[in-house]
Amino acid sequence: MNNENHSKQTKIIDGVTLNLGKPDATKPTWIGQDEVLKQIHACWLVVSDKDHPLSPRITGMPGTGKTTLAMVAAQQRKQPLYIFQCTSDTRPEDLLVTPVLSEKGSISYHASSLVCAMIKGGICILDEGNRMNEKSWASLAPLLDHRRYVESIIAGIQIHAHKDFRACVTMNNDESTFEIPDYILSRLQPTLQMNMPSYEDELEILRYHLPFSEEELLKMTVDFLQKSHQLDLEFSPRDGIHILQYALKRLSQETDHPISKDEIWKEAISKVLGEDAIDLDSLAARNNRSLQDERLPMGLGDFFFNDDNPLHPDSDK
Ligand SMILES: Nc1ncnc2c1ncn2[C@@H]1O[C@H](COP(=O)(O)OP(=O)(O)O)[C@@H](O)[C@H]1O
Ligand SMILES: [Mg+2]
Repeated sequence: MNNENHSKQTKIIDGVTLNLGKPDATKPTWIGQDEVLKQIHACWLVVSDKDHPLSPRITGMPGTGKTTLAMVAAQQRKQPLYIFQCTSDTRPEDLLVTPVLSEKGSISYHASSLVCAMIKGGICILDEGNRMNEKSWASLAPLLDHRRYVESIIAGIQIHAHKDFRACVTMNNDESTFEIPDYILSRLQPTLQMNMPSYEDELEILRYHLPFSEEELLKMTVDFLQKSHQLDLEFSPRDGIHILQYALKRLSQETDHPISKDEIWKEAISKVLGEDAIDLDSLAARNNRSLQDERLPMGLGDFFFNDDNPLHPDSDK
């Protein structure tokens, strides 16, 4: 059934030829937080003939390593990795099979990265799944339970997942476009929560990505990030990487008339995170104040009744 030639791979299902794409070839490294890596591996284990793998939901702030974690786990399992980027306008056919009009006027069918993973026995990361709409999620309901298949309306076929197929979804805590319905969330279990890294891990992460950086700049950036984590500000290792990258590039320009490292580093902070980020304490205080303002009672009735209480004097507004 698996038809291979030099340029592309195809798979024939019920007489329909699907064109398959290539897996992701990136080889990322995971630093620290061993526990959560162990947890994702556990989800993908099958402990008996009657057992099924789990499709976990990896949640956390942007830039905390959700996608990297899943990529590393896939790489350690030595399975081909496919990443599907979910967006608010992803349609069910984008997720499954897309028809493409060829030069000769005939229609060819292209399998999505998810379907490629299902057919090849690979791993699919549904990246930033919180952005995707219910209609597209609904088309995955049978795949995410014991049935392990999807139905492509466009190609008129049912596609069954290979026994080695595994999936996970990454979700940013703060950027949901749609409410994901409960019947889908109940299939995306368990939830693996990504936290901000410890001082040692964060230093290691930055050093790994920027091995050519001076120690002093690395430490300044990690001190800054760790303080921001303590203050509950949402700056991540990814922001740290960008700050250092920019600072190092700026420093390399200034060899003739040296500006202080401190000045360039501050410039990098304000260019990556905004002017306000230079003074973390004031930024955190301002954020706290605006949170409190949101919660401030608006009228006397608010002291006695919740907003949704029908007895609230303002409930008919
Ligand atoms: N534990 C970690 N080990 C290695 N790199 C990390 C780690 N955490 C974050 N990173 C790096 O930080 C950046 C953001 O990670 P990413 O996985 O894209 O975050 P997310 O998917 O949560 O937005 C990437 O460059 C990634 O390599
Ligand atoms: Mg990501």
